[in-house]
Amino acid sequence: MPNTEFDSTDIVDVGVLESEVTNTLGARTVEMETRDVSVWFGKRKVLEGVNLAFHKKTVTALIGPSGCGKSTFIRTLNRLHELIPGAALAGEVLYEGNDIYAPEVDPVQIRLAIGMVFQKPNPFPSMTIRGNVLSGLKLSGMKRSNHDEIVEHTLTAAGLWNEVKDRLNNAAGDLSGGQQQRLVIARSLAVNPHVLLMDEPCSALDPASTLKIEETIRELSKDVTIIIVTHNMQQAVRVADYTAFFLAAENEPGHVVEQGATTEIFGNPQDTRTLDYVNGRFG
Ligand SMILES: Nc1ncnc2c1ncn2[C@@H]1O[C@H](COP(=O)(O)OP(=O)(O)OP(=O)(O)O)[C@@H](O)[C@H]1O
Ligand SMILES: [Mg+2]
Repeated sequence: MPNTEFDSTDIVDVGVLESEVTNTLGARTVEMETRDVSVWFGKRKVLEGVNLAFHKKTVTALIGPSGCGKSTFIRTLNRLHELIPGAALAGEVLYEGNDIYAPEVDPVQIRLAIGMVFQKPNPFPSMTIRGNVLSGLKLSGMKRSNHDEIVEHTLTAAGLWNEVKDRLNNAAGDLSGGQQQRLVIARSLAVNPHVLLMDEPCSALDPASTLKIEETIRELSKDVTIIIVTHNMQQAVRVADYTAFFLAAENEPGHVVEQGATTEIFGNPQDTRTLDYVNGRFG
């Protein structure tokens, strides 16, 4: 008996398959995308028409002068924005092709898949190092039994394991600022995010801790998609595959002036405002 389903299946030409594989590798797969995102606080529009795509397992830097809307934008990517009173949003934010603001979507699940690390390290200071790493799991109600493994794995990925493995039961507040920030990164990783948003994660850190976090970011990007806001141009060049330059003219909403490969944005920008900004001529 012939299998009708099989009979009706188109036999795909191998040449077509090969070209599809090449295209996927060449273009990289999109993990997140914003379509025409505009943002208001009350009546004031602070961002206009942001279209950006973030590719899987790459690092994208968001740069631009103070007040142009970088933090506001990054908060729209995991629905932290809507927690601010008076905040409104238009446009679409797609994660794996689906709008994260669709009515049936649970924002808690979105924030687990799309984690966030803030400017100021925010561990629970009196809780142990180990307790901090596992706290996100507990709060989210995720049941996983291999806690020792998770603690070691995430602290290793965050570049902190060797420094804390002998004092996992000490309070997190005893760690230095740079160590606390890496602990917070480990805590975000424990819930297995696909995307990690970082809003100036090194701005409160010394240069040595900053380099450690940058190494961590490069390592993590083998598994996770990273979007990082930074005022440090060298940092963008060191860690980011792609860069987007935001700018707001006086009393106007912020927008993206230029986006592309970091080497292009810094080495061969198309817009003179980008050229001036990356060369430190304003902002
Ligand atoms: N909670 C809020 N309520 C009202 N306005 C806000 C709020 N948060 C930010 N804004 C306004 O939105 C605009 C963008 O602010 P945002 O913090 O996103 O800028 P930024 O690019 O992150 O700046 P910085 O580099 O200084 O961190 C600013 O004009 C700011 O005053
Ligand atoms: Mg900011």
